[in-house]
Amino acid sequence: MNQVFRKLSVVKLTTNFAEAVKLVEQPLVTPADNQVLIKNIYAGVNASDVNITAGRYFTDAKVPFDVGFEVFIDLSCYELYNFMSINVTQTLCIIPGLGVIHALGKNVTKYRVGQPALFLESKAYSEYVYIKQENVIPVPELKPDYLTLLRGLIKEGEKVLITAAAGGTGHLCVQWAKKKGCHVIGTTSSPEKANMLKELGCDRVINYKTENLSEVLRNEYPDGIDVVWESIGGEMFNTLVKHLRIKGRLVVMGSISGYTTGGSTIAGNLSQLTNRLILKSNSLNGFLFTQYTEEFPQYLPKLIQMLAKNELKAVLDLGQNTSGGEFKGIESVVRGVEHLHTGRSNGKVVVKIQEP
Ligand SMILES: NC(=O)c1ccc[n+]([C@@H]2O[C@H](COP(=O)([O-])OP(=O)(O)OC[C@H]3O[C@@H](n4cnc5c(N)ncnc54)[C@H](OP(=O)(O)O)[C@@H]3O)[C@@H](O)[C@H]2O)c1
Repeated sequence: MNQVFRKLSVVKLTTNFAEAVKLVEQPLVTPADNQVLIKNIYAGVNASDVNITAGRYFTDAKVPFDVGFEVFIDLSCYELYNFMSINVTQTLCIIPGLGVIHALGKNVTKYRVGQPALFLESKAYSEYVYIKQENVIPVPELKPDYLTLLRGLIKEGEKVLITAAAGGTGHLCVQWAKKKGCHVIGTTSSPEKANMLKELGCDRVINYKTENLSEVLRNEYPDGIDVVWESIGGEMFNTLVKHLRIKGRLVVMGSISGYTTGGSTIAGNLSQLTNRLILKSNSLNGFLFTQYTEEFPQYLPKLIQMLAKNELKAVLDLGQNTSGGEFKGIESVVRGVEHLHTGRSNGKVVVKIQEP
């Protein structure tokens, strides 16, 4: 092996992804004894890539470092689950890349060259990746659908509201909650995404650009919402806290409205927040999937199976409808990240890094 491959490297800490990254070359060498070398074919784009490039998630971040958050994992898979011994929320896991095994280290015996596999490390924006063998997950075929997964533990009959419901993580949350027998409410910003959500089984889609979210919730859900999956922050967060049911739970798993602006992700007076939580015995929980990696071996294979059997539908946005066309090649990662932050993406944004 004496070729080189290309990857994105973060060279400046900023939320401006295009300014943060540089395309660099690295020699392609034989993997270490316990490593698998994967030829990366698809990389999932994650809203938090810009938090990573800004050094917000890992404060010891020193440039240069590799990027591709669907980090330790980038395929969006979730587990709404028993959290703090209350039957609260979701766990999410994301898987960064999907490729084909290109070479094996001397001690790797359970995989074979040519096998399609997901990998769990935060360096998906690269043509080749060296992965510890325990972080490789074989999949039945090379389909980018495997870059988006979710599931959850919520109770049948509960009213569950999912923000950015048509997004990469959201559209899977919707399906999972429906499978659990919940009444699912999804928020989105366009009629096209609203149609997609209805097809996926959303009981009530709220287009927050054309409808007043608070009014809809007050009129149609006067008793409040049982579980909110919140990824927007700002006014959306404030409004949804107000509409929790007694003992309702809100899971904060993102705050995208502040990512590129660096603005505050919670609007208004925080003292009101504590009062609200007390007066309705509400729970507010944070969630970061990288802290639930021990759950992956249990749930990921199930999710992979569900996708393979079409029990879950992955909606992918490969850039076909963007002005620059499909996201193809490592150079198009920047366009993919920027597209996600326009708010116009539909489903999971995926970049095809190269042909298999
Ligand atoms: N905690 C974790 O472990 C974890 C892991 C992965 C992702 N996340 C979070 O999950 C959320 C979704 O991530 P994703 O990668 O799946 O992205 P995504 O949902 O595919 O894309 C973002 C969507 O957010 C909505 N949005 C609302 N306000 C926005 C704004 N001001 N700017 C841009 N978009 C806005 C848009 O949908 P509408 O037009 O439909 O509103 C947009 O399409 C993010 O907050 C991300 O940080 C958390």
